[in-house]
This record gives sequence, C-alpha cells and structure tokens, in this order.
Amino acid sequence: MAFKPKIVGFLCNWCSYAGADLAGVSRIQYPPNIRIIRLMCSGRVEPFFVFEALKQGIDGIIIMGCHPGECHYMSGNYEAEIKFNFIKKMLNFINLSDRITLKWVSASEGIRFAKVVTEFTEFIKTLGKSPIQKSKNNSDLIFSLTAMQQSMNNYRMRVLMGRKRKITEQKNVYGEKVSIDEFEELENKAIIDEYNRERISLILKKHPLSVKNLASSLDLDEKSVLDYIVWLRSKGIVDVDKIQGLTPYYISIQED
Ligand code: FES
Repeated sequence: MAFKPKIVGFLCNWCSYAGADLAGVSRIQYPPNIRIIRLMCSGRVEPFFVFEALKQGIDGIIIMGCHPGECHYMSGNYEAEIKFNFIKKMLNFINLSDRITLKWVSASEGIRFAKVVTEFTEFIKTLGKSPIQKSKNNSDLIFSLTAMQQSMNNYRMRVLMGRKRKITEQKNVYGEKVSIDEFEELENKAIIDEYNRERISLILKKHPLSVKNLASSLDLDEKSVLDYIVWLRSKGIVDVDKIQGLTPYYISIQED
C-alpha cells in the first residue's frame, strides 16, 4: 500500500489558519495528510508537543505563521523561528531534523498554503515512514525524544529561547551587545549539555549505573559524564546509590 504520511501542522489563527480556510473554501486541492492544530500565534508552539507528536509516530511537522513583520502579536513569529531552530538542532542528534519545517503563509495565500502542504508531503514521502513507526525496536528514539522534551522545558532553555532576541538585538546596561555568533555558541553548548543531562537523569531513574556504564550506554566520554554527574548531584537530581569496590554507582533521586 502506498505510504500516506501523517503530518501535524501547528498554524497561527490569524494568518496560516485563515490561509488553510481559504484553500478549503476556494476548493484548492492539497493532500489530505495534514492534521491542523490551531494556535493563536505561531510563537505559542510548544516544543513539548512537537516532540510528543514525533514520539507518537507522526511522520512530519509543519509550523506555520504570519510572514515576518505581520504577526498580530508583533513578534510571535520571530519567537516561533527561535523555538523552531532549537527543536531542529535537537532533532539533528537523532537524524530527524528534516521532518520539521517552518513556513510563513498569510490569510490571503490559500494557493501558497496548498503548495506548502503538497511539497512537504511529497518530501516526507521521499524520507519514508517515521522510524518510530517503522521499527518495533524504537525505545532508543523514544528515550531520546523524551530527553529532548524534558530539556526544552527546563529553565535555562526557556530563558535562552525567550531572551535570544533581546540579548542579541539590544545593548545591555553597560552598552554592550552580544553578537548572534557568540549567543549561538552558548546556545549550541547549552543544547548539548541539557540534552545529555536529561539523558543521564532519565537512565538513572531505571537503575544505578557507574560513570563508565553511562559513558558507554550514551556514547559519551567519561570525563563529560563525570562533569554532568557533578552538576546533577549539586542540583539534588542524582546521588550515589552504592559503591562497589572503588566505583560509585549513581541513581536519580528526582521525583516525577
Ligand atoms: S499571529 Fe500569526 S504568527 Fe503571530
């Protein structure tokens, strides 16, 4: 049977949803693969739900909002773009970043809406089914997506996403401005660190492990794992469970 991709669209109410509506009332043909979730603004898209959709086996995600400069809440679409780039960088770790796209569609662009959906559907067909659906042995992917979900919810990531524009576009009280390159260096490091910390904390919820075990299970070097463990212990997220010989085994002490 021909592959019919399942696509979830997060559409802003004022432009893209109206564009989809126009495509419908104008009877413009487009593939029926998209399931639309209406948001008041594309800036309200929650990374948590993007990762959740992928965990459920959705093949592709489209975020759509008003064109730059036309958001009804002034800058929501710029915020959507920042979140989109964070999500994409995370999905890159597990080779799923091609399965998400961000497009601008206005209320008068019914034809463009249909074109965007058609092109993305065709593109997803070339990628094939989501690996979550394709393989029963998908627990590693689900584990990684859960770690992404949790890391994007944490305070540091929220601050980085929420303040990126302000920090890189406005001067601080000392009259200095952080360049985009400087900020992105910090952002890239934070994305890797938070993702790895969440992976460690998740795996230690199941059973106690040593630094060596963690490094080999998560494909990290032992020095980095030790640094993450020190940080997680300082925050009261993990602790020593037992010492075997001279080797400490760690466990998560965080409540769900
Ligand atoms: S209202 Fe459409 S992107 Fe903000």
